[in-house]
Amino acid sequence: MKTLGLIGAGQIGSQLARLAVARGYNVVVSNSRGPETLSTLVKELGPKARAATAIGAAQAGDIVVVTVPLKNYRQVPVAPLAGKIVIDTNNYYPERDGHIAELDNETTTTAELLQAHLPTSKVVKAFNHIHAAALTTDGQPSGSKNRRALAVAGDDQSAKAEVTNLLDEFGFDTVDAGPLKEGWRIQRDTPGYGPRRTANELRRDLAAAKRYRDQKTA
Ligand SMILES: NC(=O)c1ccc[n+]([C@@H]2O[C@H](COP(=O)([O-])OP(=O)(O)OC[C@H]3O[C@@H](n4cnc5c(N)ncnc54)[C@H](OP(=O)(O)O)[C@@H]3O)[C@@H](O)[C@H]2O)c1
Repeated sequence: MKTLGLIGAGQIGSQLARLAVARGYNVVVSNSRGPETLSTLVKELGPKARAATAIGAAQAGDIVVVTVPLKNYRQVPVAPLAGKIVIDTNNYYPERDGHIAELDNETTTTAELLQAHLPTSKVVKAFNHIHAAALTTDGQPSGSKNRRALAVAGDDQSAKAEVTNLLDEFGFDTVDAGPLKEGWRIQRDTPGYGPRRTANELRRDLAAAKRYRDQKTA
C-alpha cells in the first residue's frame, strides 16, 4: 500500500487526492494554512486520507506531488523529499506568480526550477496540462480506444516509469516528452496545453510546440 503526499490541496491537489484514494492509495494532503483547514476535504476523501503540514505530507509520501502556485515553490520542504519521486504540476503565470527572469528569458523551465530547489529528489513533470476537473472525468481503463494521454518529463528514467504507472492507474496513457529541459513543450500556450489528446495527437503537439520567443515572431 503506497502513500501519495500532496503539497497543495487546491484544484489539482484535491482532484489527485480523489483519484488516489479511489485507487486504494493512502493520501496525506497539505496546504499553506494548516491541516485543520482541510477537514472538509479529508472527510470527503474518507479513512485513507489525513491532513498534515507540508513537511508531514513530504515525509509520509512514497511519491509526493507539488501542486502550489509556482511563486511559492521555494517554500516546499527540501530535506523530507530527499531521494523521493516528486511530481511537479506547476505552471508559470506571471500575473499570478510575478516575473521570474529565467522563465521569461526561457533559459530554464518550471520543473527545472523545482529540481534545483530539491537537488536530490527525482522531479517528474506531470498533470500540468489537464484542467483539474477533467482529472476525474477523462480517465479510462488501460487499452481503451482513444484514451486520453498526458505528458511526462524527467531526468530520471525509473522515476518517470513509476509516474507512468501512476498515470495509467489514474486512467491516462503517457507520452514521454524527454528530460525536464524539454518540459517547455507542454507549457502554457503550446498546442497540447489543455485539450484532450490521445498519445499520437499529443506526440504531434509536443513536436509542433514553439518557444514563447518564436511564437511572438510567428
Ligand atoms: N487548476 C488547474 O486546472 C491546473 C491544471 C494544471 C496545472 N495547474 C497548476 O498546478 C498548480 C496548482 O494549481 P491549483 O489550480 O490546484 O491551485 P490552487 O487551487 O490555487 O491551490 C493551490 C494550493 O497550494 C497550496 N499552497 C500554496 N502555497 C503553499 C505552500 N507554501 N505550502 C503548501 N501548500 C501551499 C494552497 O494552500 P492555501 O489555500 O492554504 O494557501 C492550495 O491548497 C499551479 O502551479 C497551477 O498553475 C493547475
